Amino acid sequence: MIYKKVIKPILFKKDPEKVHDMVIKIGSLMGKCKLTKIGLSAILNYKHSFLTQTVDGIRYRNPIGLAAGFDKNADLTQILPSVGFGFEEIGSVTALPCKGNPKPRLWRLPKHKSLVVHYGLKNIGSEAIAKKLQGKIFSFPLGISIAKTNCKETVDVKIAILDYYKSFITLEPFADYITINISCPNAFGGQPFTSSKLLDQLLTKLDSIKSNKPRYIKMSPDLSKQQVDALISVSEKHNIQGFIISNLLKNREKSGITPEELSKVGAGGLSGKPLEKYSNEIISYVYRKTKGKFTIIGCGGIFNAKDVYYKIKSGASLVQLITGMIYEGPTLIKNINKELVKLLQKDGFTNISEAVGIDHQKSGEICRKLLN
Ligand SMILES: Cc1cc2nc3c(=O)[nH]c(=O)nc-3n(C[C@H](O)[C@H](O)[C@H](O)COP(=O)(O)O)c2cc1C
Repeated sequence: MIYKKVIKPILFKKDPEKVHDMVIKIGSLMGKCKLTKIGLSAILNYKHSFLTQTVDGIRYRNPIGLAAGFDKNADLTQILPSVGFGFEEIGSVTALPCKGNPKPRLWRLPKHKSLVVHYGLKNIGSEAIAKKLQGKIFSFPLGISIAKTNCKETVDVKIAILDYYKSFITLEPFADYITINISCPNAFGGQPFTSSKLLDQLLTKLDSIKSNKPRYIKMSPDLSKQQVDALISVSEKHNIQGFIISNLLKNREKSGITPEELSKVGAGGLSGKPLEKYSNEIISYVYRKTKGKFTIIGCGGIFNAKDVYYKIKSGASLVQLITGMIYEGPTLIKNINKELVKLLQKDGFTNISEAVGIDHQKSGEICRKLLN
């Protein structure tokens, strides 16, 4: 309430990137103070046995994670567990430090509950981030998202593959899982690894790294069914346990936002509500196609527990968000988790894992009944 009535109107008058930087600074400072963490935890944390599950060998106390792109340089790892998150994904991190695209590179579209993002993988680079993570204890699972450095040189596929490889070996010791981000809409040279041939080469190289930590691929919501099929069949041949669905929406024509409104913001991918439909469609499609063989982490347009529950029932085991938290405030995580327990109870479940992909089983049952 205070956030939406008092804090948000003030923050939304300021430049979005400056607000983002300020929140990171404050969050990083708060993470250093034990008392602040205990206080915040008392207000914002919600625990319930229904929400706890193990996915690919990792124990999650609730299914709500902070998506990649908010905590680019691992500044919030000590405070986010007190804010109620079940996990976070830092990055995307690139092998070399990267300033990102020229400013301005972040805009709000409040009417559409969306953000336009054109950061271009700004981050301090894999070695600096490894140094920051060294010796730290994490009280929730930490995912690390890796992408190729946003520069002209990584247009050469061999260099791009080495870029991912370096980030992987540098950061793997600190991660609970690694995400291979092949879907950044804002980087030099586009998204070359959506081509199955090149993805096959990239994953072959990464397979040579011995590690039993889960590896996920982050998908674009702009992919056609054929492209999704190709991505799945390449992944089946490699050491990949699942998909994060999805990244930002690049195709503005699919966003439902008028060209006039879009002319007021710069280039970049769209987050939040405009991409929710596409993220949900791909989650459903991948779950059905692979019969739940791959883990799915659902992402895109989550603003309440119903949005989360829809993704879970469509096939996601876990979810991530950013934009919902910016529009609804930090109490969103607790509110979602509380409400999610009620939704599970109402449907007769005793754990979130029982609801994963349930919509497909239901439609399967109806089809069987109709055919008999
Ligand atoms: C400010 C911002 C920066 C982002 N940067 C990254 C990034 O570096 N890597 C990545 O994989 N996704 C990035 N994303 C995409 C998010 O991880 C997520 O896929 C997308 O925003 C959809 O979720 P949402 O609707 O809850 O925001 C970024 C999103 C935002 C809003």
